[in-house]
Amino acid sequence: MRPIAIALALPATLALTLALAACGPGATQGEAGQAGSTVISSGAAEIGGPFTLVDDTGAVVTESELEGQPTLVYFGFSYCPDVCPTALQKLGAAQERMGAAADDVQFVMVSVDPERDTPEQMATYVTNNGFPKGLRGFTGTVEQVDAIKDAYKVYAQKVPLEDSPMGYTVDHQDIIYLMGRDGELAGYFGPNQTPADIAVGVRQYLANS
Ligand code: NI
Repeated sequence: MRPIAIALALPATLALTLALAACGPGATQGEAGQAGSTVISSGAAEIGGPFTLVDDTGAVVTESELEGQPTLVYFGFSYCPDVCPTALQKLGAAQERMGAAADDVQFVMVSVDPERDTPEQMATYVTNNGFPKGLRGFTGTVEQVDAIKDAYKVYAQKVPLEDSPMGYTVDHQDIIYLMGRDGELAGYFGPNQTPADIAVGVRQYLANS
């Protein structure tokens, strides 16, 4: 099937095709290698809403953090061996391409692995080379992360890893959400979209909002 298109001003009722990504040795390469390979959600997909988490400084954050400026939000985890670093480096490259426009854009990674992603762990992770400058890391309790996963219709599932000191990995979707100044979904980008695609999409949003 076709890669996910930029869907700016996405109606809440529009069917949403989400791409799945599998992190770690449990990943099936064929599945991860196909663009937008799996439809997991359709119908009235309302994405976003209230949440309470902690950021990488340990401060409590809520949905109000996403109001006032557009935010590119990625759900992942710091132990992810490949999918998350690739997506976050893509976001870093998109930020560079946006130039000064990027000053108006916030970058947030929300952990889907709260048991390992402490605020301290996130603080280190978000400074990785190539990730967006100023990237913020949000995490929380298992219950808090479950709640935002529900609100954002995020697929993420723990998968036990046998014969690995890691113990488990997390299979998760590979979608970058663009949340608008009003804190509501304005668009999203799939795994096959480039930094240029993201930069263009964000510029379009900034020009039209
Ligand atoms: Ni990942």
